[in-house]
Amino acid sequence: MIEKMNELKSKLNEEIKNISSTRELEDLRVKYFGKKGYVTEISSHMKDLSNDEKREFGMQLNSLRNDLEVLFYEKKNILIDKELRETLEKEKIDITLPADNNDVGTLHPLTRITNEIEELFVSMGYDVVSGPEIERDLYNFELLNLPKGHPARDAQDSFYITEEMLLRTHTSPVQARTMIANQEKTPIRIICPGAVYRRDEDDRTHSHKFHQIEGLVIDENISMSDLKGTLELAMKHLFGEERELRFRPSFFPFTEPSVEVDVSCFKCGGEGCAICKGTGWIEILGSGLVHPNVLKNCGYDPKKYSGFAFGFGPERIAMLKYGISDIRSFYTNDLRFLNTFNRMDGEN
Ligand code: DAH
Repeated sequence: MIEKMNELKSKLNEEIKNISSTRELEDLRVKYFGKKGYVTEISSHMKDLSNDEKREFGMQLNSLRNDLEVLFYEKKNILIDKELRETLEKEKIDITLPADNNDVGTLHPLTRITNEIEELFVSMGYDVVSGPEIERDLYNFELLNLPKGHPARDAQDSFYITEEMLLRTHTSPVQARTMIANQEKTPIRIICPGAVYRRDEDDRTHSHKFHQIEGLVIDENISMSDLKGTLELAMKHLFGEERELRFRPSFFPFTEPSVEVDVSCFKCGGEGCAICKGTGWIEILGSGLVHPNVLKNCGYDPKKYSGFAFGFGPERIAMLKYGISDIRSFYTNDLRFLNTFNRMDGEN
Protein backbone atom coordinates (compact mmCIF):
# COMPACT_ATOMS: atom_id res chain seq x y z
CA MET A 1 0.00 0.00 0.00
CA ILE A 2 2.87 2.34 0.92
CA GLU A 3 4.34 1.57 -2.45
CA LYS A 4 1.07 2.49 -4.11
CA MET A 5 1.10 5.76 -2.24
CA ASN A 6 4.63 6.56 -3.38
CA GLU A 7 3.70 5.67 -6.93
CA LEU A 8 0.75 8.02 -6.69
CA LYS A 9 3.04 10.84 -5.53
CA SER A 10 5.46 10.39 -8.41
CA LYS A 11 2.53 9.99 -10.83
CA LEU A 12 1.18 13.38 -9.74
CA ASN A 13 4.67 14.87 -9.90
CA GLU A 14 4.82 13.79 -13.54
CA GLU A 15 1.27 14.67 -14.54
CA ILE A 16 1.34 18.09 -12.95
CA LYS A 17 4.28 19.10 -15.15
CA ASN A 18 2.07 19.04 -18.23
CA ILE A 19 -0.68 21.18 -16.72
CA SER A 20 -0.75 24.67 -18.13
CA SER A 21 -3.96 26.25 -16.82
CA THR A 22 -5.89 26.47 -13.53
CA ARG A 23 -8.77 24.79 -15.29
CA GLU A 24 -6.72 21.71 -16.22
CA LEU A 25 -5.35 21.71 -12.70
CA GLU A 26 -8.87 21.58 -11.29
CA ASP A 27 -9.65 18.55 -13.54
CA LEU A 28 -6.51 16.86 -12.29
CA ARG A 29 -7.46 17.55 -8.68
CA VAL A 30 -10.77 15.75 -9.28
CA LYS A 31 -8.83 12.81 -10.68
CA TYR A 32 -6.97 12.55 -7.38
CA PHE A 33 -9.31 13.84 -4.73
CA GLY A 34 -12.74 13.44 -6.38
CA LYS A 35 -15.34 10.83 -5.30
CA LYS A 36 -13.87 8.28 -7.66
CA GLY A 37 -10.34 9.66 -7.42
CA TYR A 38 -7.11 7.78 -6.66
CA VAL A 39 -6.89 8.97 -3.08
CA THR A 40 -10.47 7.92 -2.38
CA GLU A 41 -9.75 4.61 -3.99
CA ILE A 42 -6.71 4.02 -1.73
CA SER A 43 -8.62 5.08 1.40
CA SER A 44 -11.29 2.49 0.62
CA HIS A 45 -8.76 -0.21 1.60
CA MET A 46 -8.92 0.99 5.18
CA LYS A 47 -11.89 -1.24 5.94
CA ASP A 48 -9.91 -4.43 5.20
CA LEU A 49 -7.25 -3.68 7.84
CA SER A 50 -6.84 -4.53 11.49
CA ASN A 51 -7.06 -1.76 14.05
CA ASP A 52 -3.31 -1.33 14.39
CA GLU A 53 -2.81 -1.38 10.70
CA LYS A 54 -5.59 1.16 10.36
CA ARG A 55 -3.76 3.68 12.57
CA GLU A 56 -0.55 3.30 10.61
CA PHE A 57 -2.40 3.42 7.32
CA GLY A 58 -4.33 6.52 8.42
CA MET A 59 -1.10 8.37 9.21
CA GLN A 60 0.41 7.43 5.88
CA LEU A 61 -2.74 8.49 4.11
CA ASN A 62 -2.74 11.91 5.80
CA SER A 63 0.84 12.45 4.92
CA LEU A 64 0.13 11.49 1.31
CA ARG A 65 -2.81 13.88 1.24
CA ASN A 66 -0.61 16.69 2.56
CA ASP A 67 2.13 16.01 0.03
CA LEU A 68 -0.33 15.98 -2.85
CA GLU A 69 -2.06 19.16 -1.58
CA VAL A 70 1.30 20.93 -1.47
CA LEU A 71 1.95 19.97 -5.08
CA PHE A 72 -1.45 21.28 -6.13
CA TYR A 73 -1.04 24.43 -4.07
CA GLU A 74 2.36 25.31 -5.50
CA LYS A 75 1.27 24.63 -9.05
CA LYS A 76 -1.88 26.66 -8.58
CA ASN A 77 0.06 29.72 -7.46
CA ILE A 78 2.36 29.49 -10.43
CA LEU A 79 -0.59 29.16 -12.83
CA ILE A 80 -2.57 32.05 -11.28
CA ASP A 81 0.45 34.25 -11.63
CA LYS A 82 0.99 33.18 -15.23
CA GLU A 83 -2.66 33.70 -16.19
CA LEU A 84 -2.74 37.16 -14.59
CA ARG A 85 0.30 38.22 -16.57
CA GLU A 86 -1.28 36.88 -19.78
CA THR A 87 -4.53 38.80 -19.12
CA LEU A 88 -2.67 42.02 -18.39
CA GLU A 89 -0.66 41.59 -21.55
CA LYS A 90 -3.79 40.94 -23.62
CA GLU A 91 -5.71 43.89 -22.19
CA LYS A 92 -2.86 46.34 -22.37
CA ILE A 93 -4.01 49.73 -23.71
CA ASP A 94 -1.71 51.62 -25.97
CA ILE A 95 -2.16 55.14 -24.67
CA THR A 96 -0.03 56.53 -27.46
CA LEU A 97 -2.64 55.61 -30.11
CA PRO A 98 -4.53 58.62 -31.52
CA ALA A 99 -7.96 59.04 -29.89
CA ASP A 100 -11.25 58.52 -31.72
CA ASN A 101 -12.49 61.72 -33.26
CA ASN A 102 -15.18 62.68 -30.79
CA ASP A 103 -17.62 65.31 -32.01
CA VAL A 104 -17.69 68.08 -29.49
CA GLY A 105 -20.67 70.39 -29.23
CA THR A 106 -20.32 74.09 -29.64
CA LEU A 107 -22.20 77.12 -28.38
CA HIS A 108 -25.14 78.14 -30.52
CA PRO A 109 -24.48 81.52 -32.17
CA LEU A 110 -27.43 83.06 -30.30
CA THR A 111 -26.10 81.77 -26.98
CA ARG A 112 -22.73 83.19 -27.92
CA ILE A 113 -24.12 86.68 -28.59
CA THR A 114 -26.38 86.56 -25.53
CA ASN A 115 -23.49 85.50 -23.27
CA GLU A 116 -21.33 88.27 -24.64
CA ILE A 117 -24.00 90.89 -23.94
CA GLU A 118 -24.82 89.47 -20.52
CA GLU A 119 -21.16 89.52 -19.50
CA LEU A 120 -20.79 93.13 -20.56
CA PHE A 121 -23.86 94.35 -18.69
CA VAL A 122 -23.13 92.26 -15.59
CA SER A 123 -19.71 93.93 -15.50
CA MET A 124 -21.58 97.26 -15.32
CA GLY A 125 -23.66 96.11 -12.34
CA TYR A 126 -26.78 94.87 -14.15
CA ASP A 127 -28.74 91.82 -13.05
CA VAL A 128 -29.85 89.24 -15.60
CA VAL A 129 -33.54 88.46 -15.08
CA SER A 130 -36.15 86.43 -16.92
CA GLY A 131 -39.91 86.42 -17.27
CA PRO A 132 -42.59 84.02 -18.51
CA GLU A 133 -43.06 83.41 -22.22
CA ILE A 134 -46.79 82.89 -21.65
CA GLU A 135 -47.70 86.36 -20.47
CA ARG A 136 -50.71 88.33 -19.35
CA ASP A 137 -52.05 91.04 -21.62
CA LEU A 138 -51.65 93.30 -18.58
CA TYR A 139 -47.84 93.06 -18.57
CA ASN A 140 -47.30 92.61 -22.30
CA PHE A 141 -49.39 95.66 -23.25
CA GLU A 142 -51.52 97.43 -20.69
CA LEU A 143 -48.96 98.45 -18.08
CA LEU A 144 -46.62 99.45 -20.90
CA ASN A 145 -49.00 102.20 -21.96
CA LEU A 146 -50.68 100.09 -24.64
CA PRO A 147 -54.31 99.94 -23.45
CA LYS A 148 -56.82 97.68 -25.25
CA GLY A 149 -57.63 99.13 -28.67
CA HIS A 150 -54.33 101.01 -28.90
CA PRO A 151 -53.31 101.04 -32.60
CA ALA A 152 -49.69 100.14 -31.79
CA ARG A 153 -50.87 96.70 -30.64
CA ASP A 154 -51.46 95.84 -34.30
CA ALA A 155 -47.76 96.21 -35.04
CA GLN A 156 -47.13 93.18 -32.84
CA ASP A 157 -49.46 90.50 -34.23
CA SER A 158 -49.91 88.25 -31.25
CA PHE A 159 -50.64 84.61 -30.47
CA TYR A 160 -53.47 84.87 -27.92
CA ILE A 161 -54.20 81.83 -25.77
CA THR A 162 -57.19 83.30 -23.96
CA GLU A 163 -58.46 86.87 -23.97
CA GLU A 164 -56.08 87.73 -21.18
CA MET A 165 -53.11 85.42 -21.96
CA LEU A 166 -50.75 85.44 -24.92
CA LEU A 167 -47.27 84.40 -25.97
CA ARG A 168 -45.29 87.53 -25.15
CA THR A 169 -44.58 89.62 -28.24
CA HIS A 170 -41.52 91.27 -26.73
CA THR A 171 -39.37 91.10 -23.59
CA SER A 172 -40.65 94.51 -22.42
CA PRO A 173 -43.21 92.98 -19.98
CA VAL A 174 -40.23 92.08 -17.81
CA GLN A 175 -39.75 95.84 -17.29
CA ALA A 176 -43.20 96.03 -15.70
CA ARG A 177 -42.70 92.83 -13.69
CA THR A 178 -39.36 94.05 -12.31
CA MET A 179 -40.65 97.49 -11.33
CA ILE A 180 -43.73 96.06 -9.63
CA ALA A 181 -41.58 93.55 -7.74
CA ASN A 182 -39.30 96.34 -6.49
CA GLN A 183 -41.89 98.98 -5.41
CA GLU A 184 -39.89 102.21 -5.64
CA LYS A 185 -36.66 100.44 -4.72
CA THR A 186 -33.80 101.82 -6.79
CA PRO A 187 -31.58 101.56 -8.63
CA ILE A 188 -32.97 98.97 -11.01
CA ARG A 189 -30.45 97.80 -13.57
CA ILE A 190 -31.48 94.72 -15.48
CA ILE A 191 -31.17 93.01 -18.78
CA CYS A 192 -33.54 90.27 -19.81
CA PRO A 193 -32.76 87.92 -22.68
CA GLY A 194 -35.53 85.63 -23.89
CA ALA A 195 -37.77 84.25 -26.61
CA VAL A 196 -40.70 86.22 -28.05
CA TYR A 197 -43.45 85.29 -30.52
CA ARG A 198 -45.32 87.06 -33.31
CA ARG A 199 -47.77 85.95 -35.96
CA ASP A 200 -45.34 86.40 -38.84
CA GLU A 201 -44.93 84.27 -41.96
CA ASP A 202 -41.49 82.65 -41.65
CA ASP A 203 -39.05 83.72 -44.37
CA ARG A 204 -35.39 84.70 -44.62
CA THR A 205 -35.82 87.68 -42.31
CA HIS A 206 -38.89 86.75 -40.26
CA SER A 207 -39.58 84.04 -37.75
CA HIS A 208 -42.67 83.54 -35.61
CA LYS A 209 -40.32 82.87 -32.69
CA PHE A 210 -37.23 84.96 -32.15
CA HIS A 211 -35.29 86.52 -29.28
CA GLN A 212 -34.86 89.88 -27.67
CA ILE A 213 -32.65 91.36 -25.02
CA GLU A 214 -34.39 93.98 -22.95
CA GLY A 215 -32.60 96.54 -20.81
CA LEU A 216 -34.01 98.73 -18.06
CA VAL A 217 -32.46 101.25 -15.68
CA ILE A 218 -34.52 103.16 -13.11
CA ASP A 219 -33.13 105.64 -10.62
CA GLU A 220 -33.31 109.33 -9.76
CA ASN A 221 -31.93 111.69 -12.42
CA ILE A 222 -31.52 109.16 -15.23
CA SER A 223 -31.32 111.05 -18.50
CA MET A 224 -30.83 110.59 -22.22
CA SER A 225 -27.07 111.00 -21.79
CA ASP A 226 -26.97 107.89 -19.54
CA LEU A 227 -28.78 105.98 -22.28
CA LYS A 228 -26.43 107.25 -24.97
CA GLY A 229 -23.31 106.47 -22.98
CA THR A 230 -24.50 102.96 -22.11
CA LEU A 231 -25.52 102.03 -25.66
CA GLU A 232 -22.35 103.50 -27.13
CA LEU A 233 -20.28 101.31 -24.84
CA ALA A 234 -22.34 98.21 -25.64
CA MET A 235 -22.31 98.69 -29.41
CA LYS A 236 -18.59 99.43 -29.53
CA HIS A 237 -18.03 96.30 -27.49
CA LEU A 238 -20.06 94.27 -30.00
CA PHE A 239 -19.05 95.83 -33.28
CA GLY A 240 -15.66 97.48 -32.64
CA GLU A 241 -14.25 100.60 -30.98
CA GLU A 242 -14.39 102.69 -34.17
CA ARG A 243 -18.18 102.45 -34.43
CA GLU A 244 -20.32 105.56 -34.19
CA LEU A 245 -23.92 105.69 -33.07
CA ARG A 246 -26.80 107.64 -34.59
CA PHE A 247 -29.98 108.34 -32.63
CA ARG A 248 -33.14 108.90 -34.70
CA PRO A 249 -36.39 110.11 -33.16
CA SER A 250 -38.97 107.35 -33.16
CA PHE A 251 -42.09 106.20 -31.36
CA PHE A 252 -42.69 103.46 -28.81
CA PRO A 253 -45.68 103.70 -26.48
CA PHE A 254 -43.57 102.82 -23.45
CA THR A 255 -40.82 105.44 -23.93
CA GLU A 256 -40.84 109.22 -24.25
CA PRO A 257 -38.81 110.41 -26.01
CA SER A 258 -38.17 107.31 -28.11
CA VAL A 259 -35.20 106.74 -30.36
CA GLU A 260 -34.03 104.21 -32.84
CA VAL A 261 -30.32 103.60 -32.76
CA ASP A 262 -28.13 102.96 -35.78
CA VAL A 263 -24.52 101.90 -35.69
CA SER A 264 -22.03 102.92 -38.40
CA CYS A 265 -21.50 99.98 -40.75
CA PHE A 266 -18.79 97.68 -39.40
CA LYS A 267 -18.18 96.31 -42.90
CA CYS A 268 -17.56 99.46 -44.93
CA GLY A 269 -17.01 101.88 -42.03
CA GLY A 270 -19.78 104.15 -43.32
CA GLU A 271 -18.96 104.33 -47.04
CA GLY A 272 -22.00 102.32 -48.07
CA CYS A 273 -22.06 98.60 -48.96
CA ALA A 274 -24.45 95.66 -49.36
CA ILE A 275 -24.70 95.04 -45.60
CA CYS A 276 -25.81 98.62 -44.81
CA LYS A 277 -27.73 98.83 -48.09
CA GLY A 278 -25.60 101.75 -49.21
CA THR A 279 -26.51 103.98 -46.27
CA GLY A 280 -23.42 103.52 -44.11
CA TRP A 281 -25.69 102.86 -41.10
CA ILE A 282 -27.21 99.71 -39.64
CA GLU A 283 -30.42 99.91 -37.64
CA ILE A 284 -29.79 98.05 -34.42
CA LEU A 285 -32.26 98.77 -31.61
CA GLY A 286 -35.17 100.69 -30.15
CA SER A 287 -34.93 102.62 -26.90
CA GLY A 288 -35.90 105.71 -24.99
CA LEU A 289 -36.68 107.17 -21.59
CA VAL A 290 -39.31 105.21 -19.69
CA HIS A 291 -42.71 106.83 -20.26
CA PRO A 292 -44.15 108.53 -17.11
CA ASN A 293 -47.31 106.45 -17.53
CA VAL A 294 -45.27 103.23 -17.34
CA LEU A 295 -43.48 104.46 -14.21
CA LYS A 296 -46.83 105.36 -12.67
CA ASN A 297 -48.50 102.08 -13.71
CA CYS A 298 -45.70 100.13 -12.08
CA GLY A 299 -45.62 102.02 -8.80
CA TYR A 300 -42.88 104.60 -9.37
CA ASP A 301 -43.48 108.36 -8.96
CA PRO A 302 -42.43 109.93 -12.29
CA LYS A 303 -41.64 113.22 -10.53
CA LYS A 304 -38.99 111.50 -8.49
CA TYR A 305 -37.77 108.67 -10.72
CA SER A 306 -36.77 108.35 -14.33
CA GLY A 307 -35.20 105.63 -16.39
CA PHE A 308 -34.19 104.36 -19.76
CA ALA A 309 -35.01 101.16 -21.60
CA PHE A 310 -33.85 99.44 -24.74
CA GLY A 311 -34.62 96.31 -26.68
CA PHE A 312 -32.72 94.58 -29.40
CA GLY A 313 -32.55 91.28 -31.26
CA PRO A 314 -29.64 88.89 -30.84
CA GLU A 315 -30.62 87.19 -34.13
CA ARG A 316 -30.08 90.44 -36.00
CA ILE A 317 -26.76 91.03 -34.27
CA ALA A 318 -25.57 87.48 -34.93
CA MET A 319 -26.69 87.71 -38.57
CA LEU A 320 -24.74 90.92 -39.04
CA LYS A 321 -21.67 89.81 -37.10
CA TYR A 322 -21.37 86.35 -38.61
CA GLY A 323 -22.79 87.09 -42.08
CA ILE A 324 -25.85 84.81 -41.71
CA SER A 325 -28.44 85.50 -44.40
CA ASP A 326 -31.40 83.36 -43.29
CA ILE A 327 -32.89 83.75 -39.79
CA ARG A 328 -34.35 80.22 -40.03
CA SER A 329 -30.84 78.73 -39.83
CA PHE A 330 -30.86 79.50 -36.11
CA TYR A 331 -33.71 77.09 -35.45
CA THR A 332 -33.32 74.20 -37.90
CA ASN A 333 -30.39 72.57 -36.08
CA ASP A 334 -28.46 71.86 -39.27
CA LEU A 335 -25.08 70.68 -38.02
CA ARG A 336 -23.34 72.01 -41.14
CA PHE A 337 -24.46 75.48 -40.07
CA LEU A 338 -23.80 75.02 -36.35
CA ASN A 339 -20.36 73.48 -36.87
CA THR A 340 -19.10 76.60 -38.60
CA PHE A 341 -19.15 78.15 -35.13
CA ASN A 342 -16.77 75.47 -33.82
CA ARG A 343 -13.96 77.37 -35.42
CA MET A 344 -14.82 80.48 -33.47
CA ASP A 345 -14.14 78.86 -30.09
CA GLY A 346 -11.80 81.00 -28.12
CA GLU A 347 -13.11 84.13 -29.78
CA ASN A 348 -15.72 86.27 -28.19
N1 DAH B 1 -40.33 96.13 -27.31
C1 DAH B 1 -39.91 96.74 -28.55
C2 DAH B 1 -40.21 95.82 -29.71
O1 DAH B 1 -40.40 94.65 -29.49
C3 DAH B 1 -38.46 97.05 -28.52
C4 DAH B 1 -38.16 98.15 -27.57
C5 DAH B 1 -38.18 99.45 -27.98
C6 DAH B 1 -37.88 97.87 -26.25
C7 DAH B 1 -37.93 100.49 -27.13
C8 DAH B 1 -37.63 98.91 -25.37
C9 DAH B 1 -37.65 100.22 -25.82
O2 DAH B 1 -37.33 98.70 -24.10
O3 DAH B 1 -37.39 101.22 -24.96
O4 DAH B 1 -40.24 96.23 -30.81
